[in-house]
This record gives sequence, C-alpha cells and structure tokens, in this order.
Amino acid sequence: MTIFEAYNSTKQKLMKAGIEDYVFEAKQIIKHITGLNATAILTNYNRNLTEFQQNNLTALLRQREIRYPLQYIFGEWDFYGRPFYVGPGVLVPRADTETLVEAGLDYLKDKQGPKILDLCAGSGCIGITFACERKDSEVLMVEKFDEAINYAERNIHKNNATNSAIKKGDVFDSVEAEGSYDLIVSNPPYIAESEINEMSPETQFEPQTALLAKDDGLEFYKAIANNYKKALKNGGMLAFEVGFKQSEAVAEILKLAGFADIKFKKDLSDINRVVIGIYEF
Ligand SMILES: C[S@@+](CC[C@H](N)C(=O)[O-])C[C@H]1O[C@@H](n2cnc3c(N)ncnc32)[C@H](O)[C@@H]1O
Repeated sequence: MTIFEAYNSTKQKLMKAGIEDYVFEAKQIIKHITGLNATAILTNYNRNLTEFQQNNLTALLRQREIRYPLQYIFGEWDFYGRPFYVGPGVLVPRADTETLVEAGLDYLKDKQGPKILDLCAGSGCIGITFACERKDSEVLMVEKFDEAINYAERNIHKNNATNSAIKKGDVFDSVEAEGSYDLIVSNPPYIAESEINEMSPETQFEPQTALLAKDDGLEFYKAIANNYKKALKNGGMLAFEVGFKQSEAVAEILKLAGFADIKFKKDLSDINRVVIGIYEF
C-alpha cells in the first residue's frame, strides 16, 4: 500500500466512524506512522508503507474507530506551540483553552516577575505555557489527582519549565497565602450532569473527574472565586475558562465575590470562552 493509498483509506475509515475532522486527522496519522513531515509526504506519496508501518496503521485505526482519542494514541499533543504528554488519566489540552492563556499574557505584559497560580492544572498545559512564555514568572499549579500530577511533572521537564512547580491539592479545601499572586487562572471541570449526553464520544475515555461539576457545572467557579480571591495581590486578576453557556453565570459569581472590571474573551468560534475579573481591596 502506498502512502497515498493509506491516506485515502484512512480518510474513508475516519469519516465512516463519524469523525468530523477526518481530513486533518488522516494527515496527522500518516505523519505519525511514516515519521515524515507534510512536504516529505507530498514528495513521497508513491512510496510503499513498510509492513511494520502498515500494521501500526491498522492497530491505530482500530482504536480510533471506537473513538479512542487521537491524542491518547499519539501520547503527545501540542498546546500553544509546545508538546505535552497526554494519556488516560488526564484531560487532553483543547485549542479553546489558548484563549485563557492569551487573556492572562495580555494582563501580565507590563508586570515584571509575575506570580501565577493555575488551579485544576491537569497536564499542566496552562501553567507550563505561562512559565515558558514568561521566563521571569513563577508559576504554581494545583491538581487533585495523582495521574494528572504525574503528567504535569513530566511536562514540566519536557518543556524545561524550571520556573514552574505542581503540588497536590483540592481547590475546595486548600488555599494560598493572602496577597501572593498577580494572576490566578483556572480551567476547572464545568460540564453539568444534564449535558453529559451532548459530549463527544471521545470524552468517555477522559477522566470524568476532569469534566463534571455539580451545581449546573458552576461549583468550582463559586469555590475558587470565593476561596482564592484573597490570594490575589491588590488589583490582581482571576481568569476562568467557561463552558459555552456559562459566561453570564460566571460573571455574576465574580461580581458577588467582589470582583470588578469583569470582561469576556471570545474563542475562535466567537463564543465567550473566558471570564476575567479584577480584585481590589
Ligand atoms: C477541565 S480539566 C483542566 C485541565 C487543564 N487545566 C487543561 O486546561 O487542560 C480540570 C482538572 O481539574 C482537576 N480537578 C478536579 N477536581 C479537583 C479539585 N477538587 N481540586 C483540584 N483539581 C481538581 C482534574 O483532575 C482535571 O485535571
């Protein structure tokens, strides 16, 4: 089977499995299987796959056809242009979450040596990205589950983010010292139980503890806004990623917790994806 034939049959199989982005995924899979970049694939499209590559492709497609996440199959995924280890036990970094990073970087642009707290850190994609983008910063990440902490630790090393660290903690009962942080960011679990049926088939393989939240998906926002506001420096910013129907409710939570200057940031699909607020005392 040539590379070209493999690409076409991969596209067909993915399309049949109901995968929306089947063209993009087919390209990624052929790159992964052959170890070639996009240009080399174009110039070698008539080359035959080795038996090993063909077996690999068959095994990979078998997993993908049952909607096992592509990111878990690869074991690595890019976020904000950097590679992160991912796999069972940790949420796959989403492109939408880059909106949260952009909002935070924008806020920090005039601050020297900022201190940043990333709550519910998962793979560490948010906190580590801040640490790499702002080498003068100090980043602490907090995460409850050991599986995720393990990935975050490996990702700190992978990205040489020596100005970041992760600690085990539960955001419902751990707090940080008062007046410590310029910026607190969080992409907490926010899927309401009533929305479980709207989730993509891939999410059934991700930890439910990373996705589901009580109180219509709002319990983490309430706890973090109220428990962690005092950990901000005067004029510090709290920035949340939110679900596509949650921006108004989260803005209200921030208002009730005493935040000012509350704003929304839109993602690439023009949805309010981030809610920010400033805390002054
Ligand atoms: C939506 S995921 C976000 C992960 C990562 N920040 C990202 O954007 O890809 C939420 C994370 O919160 C963690 N988590 C769940 N409950 C928690 C709690 N009570 N305290 C701290 N972390 C928690 C989950 O394990 C998961 O890694």
